[in-house]
This record gives sequence, C-alpha cells and structure tokens, in this order.
Amino acid sequence: MDSKSATSKPFLTDVKTLRERARQNIGDGAVTPSYQGDVNKTIDILQSVLATEIVCVLRYKMHAVAATGISSEGVKAEFEEHAREEAEHVSQVAERINQLGGKPDFNPTGLATRSASEYGTAENLVEMIKENLIAERIAIEHYRELIRYFGNEDPGTRTMMEGILLVEEEHANDMHDLLVAHEGKPMLPK
Ligand SMILES: [Fe+2]
Ligand SMILES: [Fe+2]
Repeated sequence: MDSKSATSKPFLTDVKTLRERARQNIGDGAVTPSYQGDVNKTIDILQSVLATEIVCVLRYKMHAVAATGISSEGVKAEFEEHAREEAEHVSQVAERINQLGGKPDFNPTGLATRSASEYGTAENLVEMIKENLIAERIAIEHYRELIRYFGNEDPGTRTMMEGILLVEEEHANDMHDLLVAHEGKPMLPK
C-alpha cells in the first residue's frame, strides 16, 4: 500500500483492490464434487484470514490508544474489546492451520499484503470508527464467501469461520451504532 493514499480518502481508495486480493484464493471458486478439502489450499486461505485478523488486532489496539476527545472513553473501551475478540480469532485460526498440518504465518514481513483488511490512517474518532466499519464489512463479505467455499467439504473450518463471522457482524453493528451516535447518520447505504 503506498503511503500517498493517506491523503483525502485514505481508506476507501483501495477497497476494490482489497476485495480482489481477498478473493484471489478462491478465484476459480470451483469446489468439485470430489473435493474433500484441499488441505494446502485451505491452509493458504487461512493464512490470509490469519493476516486479516492480526491487522484487525493492530488497528483496534492503535485506535484504542489514539482515540481522544469528548466522549472518547466509551469508544476506547469498545475498541479494546474488539481488539481482544480479534486476538481470539487470531488464536482460533492459527490453531486450525496447525491442526491441518500447516505453520501459522505470523511473519510481520508482508503482513499487510496477506491481509484482506487495512491497518488504517484515521486521525480522529469518527474516521477511526469509519475505518473499522469498512474493515469489518470487508471481513464479513470475505468470510461469507469462504463459508460458502468450504461448504460441506470441510465442515470443521466452515464452522469456525461461521463463529468468527457472527462476531464480525456484531463488530460492524457496534461500529455502525457508534457512528450514528457520533455523527447522527450512517456512513454508507446498505
Ligand atoms: Fe476477527
Ligand atoms: Fe471484527
């Protein structure tokens, strides 16, 4: 991600790219009838989910510290709680990669490239909330696709992703509510 994107519309600029990146692992999307879980492909996909979750932890942690201004205390607490829940997702996904015989990729080099969500560049409370809402929506969209992809071929991974998805939906809802509370309106049409 080049740093020039941190100007007027920093976070929205690359949503399309991010989505394409998020989809690349399931690009052909073909789950054949004989598919019983292509373990290597599943591990690759989960490495990208792992990176996404790590970036989410970092972004919420940074926001929890950086949030300032009037009525920021409740927002800080919310960011902290989300950071904790994202960290639980990191553990779950890493455990699953390990179960499948892979080695969870925690290498900070290339982390942002592996992730489907961005670290963020927000400089005020409302921008932070917006960034989180966008990141959650990207994660939700991506995870829904993955759940469909895993289908009945890998119910273990699918069930884990369904659990994570539910939490991401709560996160998006929390960010939406905070945005309405702080700006009086939602950011994006449904
Ligand atoms: Fe998460
Ligand atoms: Fe989340």
